Amino acid sequence: MKKKDINIGLIGYSMMGKAHSNAYRAAPFYFDLDVNPVLNTIVGRDPEKIKKSAAKMGWKNHSTDWQDLIDDPSIDVIDISSPNNTHKEIAIRAAEAGKHVFCEKPLSLTLQESKEMLDAVNKHNVLHMVCHNYRFAPAVQYAKKLIAEGRLGKIYHFRATFLQDWLMNPEAPLTWRLQKDISGSGTLGDLGIHIIDLARFLIGEFSEVTGMMDTFIKQRPLGTMTDTLQYETTSNEYGEVTVDDAAAFLARFENGAMGTFEVSRFSAGNRAGNRFEINGEFGSIRWDMENMNNLEVYFTNDEEGLQGFRTINCTEHVHPFAGNYWPAAHILGYEHTFVNIIKTFLDGVAKGESPEPNFKDGVMNQAIVEAVERSSETKSWVSVNDVLQENNIEKQDLIHQL
Ligand SMILES: NC(=O)c1ccc[n+]([C@@H]2O[C@H](COP(=O)([O-])OP(=O)(O)OC[C@H]3O[C@@H](n4cnc5c(N)ncnc54)[C@H](O)[C@@H]3O)[C@@H](O)[C@H]2O)c1
Repeated sequence: MKKKDINIGLIGYSMMGKAHSNAYRAAPFYFDLDVNPVLNTIVGRDPEKIKKSAAKMGWKNHSTDWQDLIDDPSIDVIDISSPNNTHKEIAIRAAEAGKHVFCEKPLSLTLQESKEMLDAVNKHNVLHMVCHNYRFAPAVQYAKKLIAEGRLGKIYHFRATFLQDWLMNPEAPLTWRLQKDISGSGTLGDLGIHIIDLARFLIGEFSEVTGMMDTFIKQRPLGTMTDTLQYETTSNEYGEVTVDDAAAFLARFENGAMGTFEVSRFSAGNRAGNRFEINGEFGSIRWDMENMNNLEVYFTNDEEGLQGFRTINCTEHVHPFAGNYWPAAHILGYEHTFVNIIKTFLDGVAKGESPEPNFKDGVMNQAIVEAVERSSETKSWVSVNDVLQENNIEKQDLIHQL
């Protein structure tokens, strides 16, 4: 029987546009999907560039206006891969038009906006997912399995960083990621939200946080992003940086574990230092995105004398997703995290379910970002539940049923 076509409309053709385009093409190549994704229309504002990108990335049509996707009854899914200030309006309009939504992180600029997006997808009964792709690295999925099986026992510590260095040059321009009205937040909402999501995925919900944030370079020349975190200066004029360059915070989890988190774009030599270490009653797990196929594990019940961290290359057929690609140790890369999340989303579309992480996670992650921001301002501990309640959000409505 012919599989049902799912027509995709994608907004954004730059870094994430490229990652998602590749994923829609590759997912049915590596996995037996129950639906057939069709790269129908890609949208970007520059007519020449979008035409070129559509041809290069394999899209049938292109447009300079995302409204065209909303108006087109043949489009089933809207994929939002444009800057953060565009997410809310597009997602709500897509939901009103009965289209499923796959949205980049952070869900939007604020918790209140994220709530409106969740309300819209719920009201119009469309499927939704938020692109926390790092959950979908086979090694991270395997870490989750080990923790869920109780191999680490009670969890004591979750320790994570996401460190970059692409803003160390004080003349690096004031691109959209440095403007609060477009990005919502700086390193915290851009990088921190990924490790917040990983922490929730791996060990559970946050209870309270206390943090600090800073902006090291307060003024920069005006400019634009080009591709893959590259940029160009477009003016001699300077503008004010309105987001954080770095943030650090402590957290307490509902299960009693302690969390320590640090994010920065000023950590020389760290290009994508997305790392975590988890310490539990019976052992520890470490992961480093720059070496993303490997998981380091340590078990306290290993024989004395043999104890030590061992490195598992998570590319065996028993590791989640990995068996669909290549033989063991024929390693995977960054783009496969997107192929795996898009495969999961398309499975959800086939079943009529919104897989995790979905907009509920987007809202919860944003609540934690706002709790850290507030604690940094007030120099105090902030309860995540208080932040949710002030925004009329019931925590119970965000927790996934087991
Ligand atoms: N999941 C991840 O690991 C990850 C990594 C990078 C970026 N992101 C997220 O993806 C989104 C896009 O980031 P990026 O790095 O690709 O940004 P980018 O600046 O490289 O590209 C943005 C794209 O959006 C287009 N665009 C901007 N405004 C638009 C509008 N009004 N209508 C149509 N198109 C518009 C631009 O033309 C460009 O193609 C952001 O929300 C970002 O936080 C996620």
